[in-house]
Amino acid sequence: MPYIKQFQNEKSSCLSYYVCCPGKAKCAVIDPSDNVGLYIDQAGRDFSDIVAIIDTHIHGDHISGARKLSEISGAPIYMGKSSGVGFQFTPVSDGDKIDLGNVDLEVMRTPGHTTESISILYTDRKRASVPWGIFSGDTLFVGDIGRLDFSGAGTSEQMHDTLFGKLLSLPDYVELYPAHYVGSVCGKGMSLKTYSTIGFERRFNPALQCISFEEFERYLLENPLEPFPAHLEFKRINSALQMEVPTAPPRKS
Ligand SMILES: [Fe+2]
Repeated sequence: MPYIKQFQNEKSSCLSYYVCCPGKAKCAVIDPSDNVGLYIDQAGRDFSDIVAIIDTHIHGDHISGARKLSEISGAPIYMGKSSGVGFQFTPVSDGDKIDLGNVDLEVMRTPGHTTESISILYTDRKRASVPWGIFSGDTLFVGDIGRLDFSGAGTSEQMHDTLFGKLLSLPDYVELYPAHYVGSVCGKGMSLKTYSTIGFERRFNPALQCISFEEFERYLLENPLEPFPAHLEFKRINSALQMEVPTAPPRKS
């Protein structure tokens, strides 16, 4: 039977996911950490091939294992189509599907935390033809939402549309699998609990209690986060873009 395995990185409070359909011997990894041996070993135990690697966005708080895992497994990296990165990836947008045998992974564009952010709907077709889970990246956490002040962030309007127009349009029973839990620099007020449901967050997540956009903006202003300047270096590494090297001034003879 298809299943989801969550991996916790206690150092960075990151969560990554291994999704497998052992019946069809296919698996995918979402937001892999640098410790890629975890996923390779798990795929080996399932006699399955890693056929897809998904980064929900260009991470700003840890080094993504996507490229390392892609090199080892040969699987493509899927990212939001507006991702500005210096390596090869398969660009995806709303409605694109990744076939994992009896599992469908469907892309939902969720700009806000970053403009290229995507979330992934999980449908286990052995059970039903509709999704029962969503991997929400840094868009929606258990008890908080993703910060909007890192380089590459979208606007508060985008985040509001994503949360209230897209994620909260899902049924209450849909399980929520975020990319972080308490202790992460990517939000504050997150829970130690590492998964939730859309219904529970709809009712109890403080950021989702704002009915109007004005209330949402006030919530953002009243709940600032500690600056995290190191995000620029993580973004540079994870996007593999050349850093501008300042030219040394000519020496005086
Ligand atoms: Fe992030």
